[in-house]
Order: sequence, then structure tokens, then C-alpha cells
Amino acid sequence: MARDAVAEIRDRTDIVELVRGYVPSLKKTGRTFKGLCPFHQEKTPSFIVFPDSQNFHCFGCGKGGDIFTFYMLSEHVEFREGLRELARRAGVELEPGAAPTPKQDEHRRRLVEINQLAATFFGHVLQRASAGADGRALVEQRGVSPEMVERFGLGFAPDGWEHLTNFLSSRSVDGPTGVEAGLLQERPNGGYYDRFRNRLMFPIRDRDGNVVGFGGRALGDAMPKYLNSPQTPIFDKSSLVYGLDLARDAIRKHDEVVIVEGYMDAIAAHQFGHENVVAAMGTALTEGQVAQVKRGSKRIVLALDADTAGQMATLRGLETMRDALDQDMVPIPDALGVVRFERKLNAEIAIVELPEGKDPDELIRKAPERWPEIVRRARPFLDFTLDVLVRDVGRDDARGKAEVVTRVAPLLQQIPDRIVQGHYMSQLARRLDLDERLVVSEIRRARARTSARPSEAADHPKARRRATEDHLLALLLQHHDLTRAIAVRIPPDDLLDARNRELLRILSDPAIAGLTAEQVVAGLDDQLADHAEALLSAVEGQPEQFPGHVQRAVTQMLDTLGRERFVFLARQIQSNIEAAAREDDTEAVDSLRGQLSALADRHRQLYPPPSPYFRDSRSPQGQHR
Ligand code: CTP
Ligand code: MN
Repeated sequence: MARDAVAEIRDRTDIVELVRGYVPSLKKTGRTFKGLCPFHQEKTPSFIVFPDSQNFHCFGCGKGGDIFTFYMLSEHVEFREGLRELARRAGVELEPGAAPTPKQDEHRRRLVEINQLAATFFGHVLQRASAGADGRALVEQRGVSPEMVERFGLGFAPDGWEHLTNFLSSRSVDGPTGVEAGLLQERPNGGYYDRFRNRLMFPIRDRDGNVVGFGGRALGDAMPKYLNSPQTPIFDKSSLVYGLDLARDAIRKHDEVVIVEGYMDAIAAHQFGHENVVAAMGTALTEGQVAQVKRGSKRIVLALDADTAGQMATLRGLETMRDALDQDMVPIPDALGVVRFERKLNAEIAIVELPEGKDPDELIRKAPERWPEIVRRARPFLDFTLDVLVRDVGRDDARGKAEVVTRVAPLLQQIPDRIVQGHYMSQLARRLDLDERLVVSEIRRARARTSARPSEAADHPKARRRATEDHLLALLLQHHDLTRAIAVRIPPDDLLDARNRELLRILSDPAIAGLTAEQVVAGLDDQLADHAEALLSAVEGQPEQFPGHVQRAVTQMLDTLGRERFVFLARQIQSNIEAAAREDDTEAVDSLRGQLSALADRHRQLYPPPSPYFRDSRSPQGQHR
């Protein structure tokens, strides 16, 4: 039934009208519409809407999809919310709670329910059980009021191995489901035990208040200080913001959101009436998190301790992660990353560096009335970053100055407004005591250099993937009637090249059955046709093949592509793990390791025979290589 609703919304929604609301420049060109892409910065339009198939595609950034994808990307909402809104606009009625993939959704709801159940259990222990005495002592010592314990649903996981395990089993939640919910762990020789033991528990809720996971703080100095839920189907740290469910109204009212680092910090703020405060859950602020809070207000203040603030102001060059990694990958934002979030999400990020050794928790409890004044001291992120980069360079340090200019160049280049850019360039020149024209010309030169880089620095795994991918698409095009059944099963995201993804979509369409490859190409728009012709000419003159051969060749190439893709992504993550480890960013290391093993899991599912890479991720030691 929900499937019908989706189809009906699609039928009733005119993608051109929908897109026009976001892309005023959209113009008809032949059978398609063209405009400036809303998902990346560009000067010449490479964003195309295909009214016939009700799809869109950007040849610049590679984003593409249908009305739902478009709405989700534009509004930074999940599928369900996009569905709800587009249904409303199209006048299609959804059953209450109707979900796009009922089975999956049912399962997620079940996992939320189990987490909710655990929260009730932990809450009961903290408030009433004798096993919760240590928790109550910690709460009291930290000055958390009973109202806050209630509001944030704090709890306590008793010391012992099977408290929650037994409780869940008494509520007919079995071991494997408890593990999937992120609450239990499997013993090597059978049986299950509690993941969280002897910890003060902070339920982590999504913006609608559903409990999706936990953070557990150790008593005293036990390690690790915080243990969080692992990645589960409902818990994805990179898109969650602690306290957002409680802060939503205040964020809108103040038209400002303050992001602090820790659970305790957010709670302290709320306790003293500053309810527009949320926590980022560790050091890695992600684009997904910024997108979440931005829906309440685009004025975002990061209140960070000096260390974290300093780290964000650096330029670590993780930019390279961008096009390579899937969206579920967690970036560790350096200055470039943050500036990109700002631009992409049209948010204003300001930063306030807290006094050395003080976190918001302490500051607020000591002098609650001074908090607004501290927040007001926040400075635009770019100003702050320039400060940090410039402040260690001595008056006579010529090399230091050169280095700062080189490093800052990519940041300043990202500023679309030339006046604003000019402002920062002259500020930089003044502060480094350099001739402004020199700084400007250096930054221009750096631009020339960076734009020349991609091809030159094209790393081998990537180049190899492109070649395989092109070859595959050439075969699919040449023999599309024979290979359509295979083509429809290829996940478009597995392809690097946006043109190939679009081509794949067309080749999966039964409407082209019976056409020759040349006829298919003739129906493409110019850009895509050029590409398709190039593909065909590369396989030209290859001997006629029997159908079985073609299909086998295609299947083999897909297999190769999958492996190459895996190696490529695994290497990227691996090198980011190394970078994060060098910075002692254990948070990021953990998160990246999680990604690596998720990647390996997925790969293992798709390609059963083991490759050396997943042996790595099975034994944790392997990852250090
Ligand atoms: N964090 C985490 N895992 C860790 C350490 C920290 O997830 N091993 C996250 C938690 O969200 C934590 C935040 O990072 O709240 C900030 O860490 P920290 O400043 O060390 O903790 P506080 O919340 O300030 O805790 P406390 O004041 O009790 O020391
Ligand atoms: Mn603290």
C-alpha cells in the first residue's frame, strides 16, 4: 500500500516545478531542463532535469535521482520526512505511520522500542534500585538536578554482566536482537552479556525524541570514559545531535543554536535555562549534524574547548575524502571542511574558544548568568581560523608567512563573494605584514595549482576504477538487450563517473529494447552522447561474442569493479585512520574503524570469497598495518 502511495506521489508531482523552486535558473533545452546545480557551486549549468523519466542529474557533482532524492538532498531530511511532505503537496494521503519499506521500518521501530525499554530499565535503576547508588552519587556530585535527570532520561547500568541481558530476555527480546539494538554483546562461546556495565547512562534520542542509542559514562577514572552504542540500523553518531529533541523550540525562538562538546555540558546549559544548547557527541562535527541543527536556525555557534577549536582551525587536507567516500562516511572537519558545510548548507558557523581547561559544564555551573555573554563572543569561523593560523607566526619569520599564505589559499578560494574574499586577503596581508598584491597573486597562483591537480594526482586505484567502469559501460551499451537484466541490479553509487551513472539508468530502461547502440546514443543529450561515443569507440572492433560470453564478461567486470571500489575506499579510510591516529583523535579513529568494518561487511555480503582486505577488519590488529 505504501508502495502505491510512493508511485502516486511520483505521478502527481511535476519534477520540473519542484526543482524550479530551488533552481530559479532552470531553463528548457530540448527535451530536458538545465540550470545551476543547487548541490554544488558552479558558474555554468550542468544540472539537468529529465521530465520524461522524472529524474534529475548533475554532471558536475554527480548527484542525481528522483523527486524524493531531490527533496531529501535539498531539505536535508530523511526519506520518510520527504515522503510525508511531498505527499502533502501532492494531496496524497499516507496511512498514519506508513513507511516506504514497511518491513525494514518495522524492524527499526522494534530496535527503537528495545532501546526505549533499556532506557526505562536504566532509569529505574538510577532512581530507585540499590544497584544504582553509585550513579545517584555521581549525579549529585556533578550537581545535576532531579528535573534534568527526568528530562534527559538519565539512567544507570548496574555493575555486572547480565542485568540488562536478563531484563531484556524477560521481555522476550532475544540475544541477537539485543546485539543488533547495540545493547548486548555475544560471548565467544555462546551466550550474551551487557555492553554497558557500571556506567551512568545518557539515552541518545533523535530529533523526534526516539531513543536510538546510549552514551555511558564510567564512574571515576575507569576507561573508556565514555562508551557509546555501536553503529546500528538506528544509531548513526554522525547524524545525531545530543539534546536536539529538547532544544528544538528554543533554537527556533532564539534563532541560534549553540553546540557544545559533551553530554554533561548540554545538560548543564538546560538546567540553567539555556535551552538552545545541544552536544555534538565528541570531536567530529559532521555535515549531517550541521544539517540537523540548521533546520532550526542557520546561526550556529560552536562553543569548544581550546584544543578542539584549534584542531578545527587547522587544514589537514582531508578534502580528498570528498568525492570518494560515501555519504555515510564521517569526515573529521578541518577548517576547509567547516567552511564547506557553511557554504553547502548555507549556514553561519561561529566559534567561541572557551578558556583553557574549562568546559561549559563548569563555566555554567559557576556563573550561569554569564553564559550568554560568552556565546556572544563567538566569531565567524573564518576569522577565527585566520587568527589561529596567523598567531604563531613571528614578525621576522619569512618562511612561516609563506607557509600560512599557501595553506590559507584553498580556504580563501572557497569564498564565492569577491568583496568578502578581498576583505580577508587584505586582512591576511596586514596581519602578516606583507604587500597585499603579493598575497593576492600568491592565492591566485595557488588556485591554478589546485585546479591542475586532480588529473595529475589521480591515484592509481581511482584511475583503474574509472577504466574498468568505462569498459563495463561500453559493453552494457553495446549489448544492452543482452545485459539489461544485469544492468538493473548494479547500484548506481558503485560508479564513480556521473555520466556512467546516468548511462546506466538509461540502459536499465526496458523502453530502449530493440534499439541499436547507435540509436540509443542518438537519443542522449550532447554531453552524454559524447561520452557514450567515446566508450563505444574504445571497444570498437572487438570480435562478435556469443551471448553467454558477453554476460560472463560483464559479470566478471562487475566483480572486478566491486573489488576495486572496495580497495579504493578501504585505502582512503585507512589513510584517514593514520592521519587521525597521528593527531591522537581517538574518537575519529574509532569512528573510521567502524566505517572500515562496515565497508568490509558490505563487501563480504556482495562478494563472498574473502580478499586480503577483510581478513584485516576481522582481526582488529590487522587494521594497524
Ligand atoms: N566522548 C565519547 N567517547 C569518549 C570520550 C568522549 O563519545 N571516549 C564524547 C561524549 O559525547 C562526551 C564528549 O565527547 O560527552 C566530550 O568529552 P569529554 O569532554 O571528555 O567529556 P564530558 O562530557 O565533559 O564529561 P565529564 O565532564 O564527565 O568529564
Ligand atoms: Mn566535562
